[in-house]
Amino acid sequence: MAPTIPLLTPYKMGKFNLSHRVVLAPMTRNRSYGNTPQPHAILYYSQRATKGSLLITEATGVSDTAQGYPETPGIWTKEQVEAWKPIVNSVHEKGGIIFCQIWHVGRVSNSGFQPNGEAPLSSTDKGITPGLAGGDWSPPRRLRSDEIPAIVNDFRLAARNAIDAGFDGVEIHGANGYIIDQFLKDQVNDRSDEYGGTLENRCRFALEIVEAVANEIGGDRVGIRLSTFANYMECVDSDPEALGLYMANALNKYEILYLHVIEPRMVEVDTLYETPHSTLPMRKAFKGTFISAGGYKRDDGINAVADGKADLVAFGRLFLANPDLPKRFEIGAGLNKYDRNTFYTQDPKVGYTDYPFLEV
Ligand SMILES: Cc1cc2nc3c(=O)[nH]c(=O)nc-3n(C[C@H](O)[C@H](O)[C@H](O)COP(=O)(O)O)c2cc1C
Repeated sequence: MAPTIPLLTPYKMGKFNLSHRVVLAPMTRNRSYGNTPQPHAILYYSQRATKGSLLITEATGVSDTAQGYPETPGIWTKEQVEAWKPIVNSVHEKGGIIFCQIWHVGRVSNSGFQPNGEAPLSSTDKGITPGLAGGDWSPPRRLRSDEIPAIVNDFRLAARNAIDAGFDGVEIHGANGYIIDQFLKDQVNDRSDEYGGTLENRCRFALEIVEAVANEIGGDRVGIRLSTFANYMECVDSDPEALGLYMANALNKYEILYLHVIEPRMVEVDTLYETPHSTLPMRKAFKGTFISAGGYKRDDGINAVADGKADLVAFGRLFLANPDLPKRFEIGAGLNKYDRNTFYTQDPKVGYTDYPFLEV
């Protein structure tokens, strides 16, 4: 008998019976024209679904102020909810489980993406350095404290819409420099109200969203993604260990399903660094399922599960380029190489659904 591969063993995540631990990481693909999911996404997601697999969708806007990139999907209108339904169905038909990543970009935007050309919204009025990561970022407008409940409510409604569309749950996007991260990190959040200053205050916005979403759809259908140690979009914290640990402990109160954390070695997108930091204290503090992501290959994914560093491992670029990634990992097959030139292009097929499966 072949030895058991820890990454490919079953796992019970709350009420969901996963048949393996290889998760599709959330990935923006910029092919949802007019912010509406398109039929070609049916093929993309169903290609990556297997019985008992967990897929997380691309980041999906919670409102008309949530967008900052071309052709990203939303889930705030009836039409968007309807457009998601056949995509979700196709994953369910293959026995997969699919969570919608709900998202607000905050200041990672341009007024051209905003209603009436207004300034993007954030915790701060400090903008991102012009031209960073090739973007044309507009100076943001600092949300007044009395405007914050409306943004929290947008997340709540988006979660309700996701359930109406048939999703098994939602992942709150608290990572990668977007609006929640802009509140969490002390090098961005320069507020003097109850949403800024102390660690407790900076985490308030994130936890209000978690609470509202968990109350709306049940904590057993809610995950959150954090990138405490990263500095994407200039979202940096002076004490990421403390921030991560505070959040991991605070989340327990809402009894949510999972915490999904990007590895400290992934300080920047694409580059792996040596780091003194570890997600282990967060993993130990958090009582639910722990998902780790960031730069994983087959071997270190296996080790992460074997060593108890994570329950599940999310794969981004490898899964993008290998629709049958769990199968390839199981038999130790070679992998297709990803083509970064087509990550964010708008073609409904090229670089999207044309990566080949293993020949059997
Ligand atoms: C094309 C692309 C799009 C991405 N979009 C998102 C996104 O929408 N939401 C998110 O949380 N992370 C996003 N990420 C980050 C991935 O989820 C993942 O954390 C990152 O790629 C590192 O994992 P990997 O080394 O397995 O690719 C994206 C990454 C890529 C390559």
